[in-house]
Amino acid sequence: MDLKGKNVVITGASKGIGKAVAMRLAENGVNLVIAARTQSTLDETVKEIKDKTGVNILGVAADVSKLDDLKKIVDTANKEFGSIDILVNNAGVSSQYPFEKQPLEDIERLAHTNYLGYVRLIRLVIEQMIARKSGSIINMVSGSTLCDPIPKTFVTYSSLKVGLRAFLKGLFWEMRDHNIKITSILPGVVDTGLTDKLDNITQDQKDRLMSPDAVVDMVMFALSVPANTCPLELAVINQQTPWTKPVIDYSQKQAK
Ligand SMILES: NC(=O)c1ccc[n+]([C@@H]2O[C@H](COP(=O)([O-])OP(=O)(O)OC[C@H]3O[C@@H](n4cnc5c(N)ncnc54)[C@H](OP(=O)(O)O)[C@@H]3O)[C@@H](O)[C@H]2O)c1
Repeated sequence: MDLKGKNVVITGASKGIGKAVAMRLAENGVNLVIAARTQSTLDETVKEIKDKTGVNILGVAADVSKLDDLKKIVDTANKEFGSIDILVNNAGVSSQYPFEKQPLEDIERLAHTNYLGYVRLIRLVIEQMIARKSGSIINMVSGSTLCDPIPKTFVTYSSLKVGLRAFLKGLFWEMRDHNIKITSILPGVVDTGLTDKLDNITQDQKDRLMSPDAVVDMVMFALSVPANTCPLELAVINQQTPWTKPVIDYSQKQAK
């Protein structure tokens, strides 16, 4: 796909993976609407991308867990650029708790951000993509969904991502008939603010975290395949980090 002049919306793009995706797409000449909650960080990122690439870029302060904010993102992109060609659903939060200690509000927050935030935003853009018979929707899921059972202390986060992955897999087939591409990216453990907050991470493990650029490469691959092709899922997993390997001890399996 020639990306120059395409209209792109990216959520959670003021930092981390989303920001890296925004920068790379801007270097390829797209028009951008980027969203995140914190106005100051968003403004800094908009300025940085604009100064470096000169693209058309707007920041929308929005919380993807709120339906009205999602509508604001879509309305802004439609008003400024006329349409949305590519949606990168990326905004997400992580939290790590033994389940019995996880606050109820935290469970709600994760569900509204990491699951509903994605599904609702797709619902808000899908009709215009169907009408134009074109569009790409790329979704940041998680490599933790490859673990079965999902990792201890990430049960709420990872199970919502498992649900999201299942939703997207189903949607892939439904949207294929409308020439719309749906891709899930399953990153392993990436060096961002999100992983900074993890418990029990040693320096040795930290040294093996992936750069956001490895994930950006997957996004660019998804957007570069021939028109009649679409990667359903792309997993980019680091070597030898926790959480992206089975977590049941061998000794447990042997217990009678
Ligand atoms: N890092 C990893 O190891 C890893 C692995 C697998 C999957 N992922 C997934 O990749 C995505 C990006 O993660 P990251 O590591 O880049 O995170 P990050 O560095 O913490 O950045 C998250 C971005 O999303 C924004 N954001 C968070 N909550 C939001 C909300 N409710 N509404 C709008 N924007 C929101 C943040 O800005 P504000 O705080 O200002 O809103 C920030 O711009 C997430 O979906 C995450 O689950 C990450």
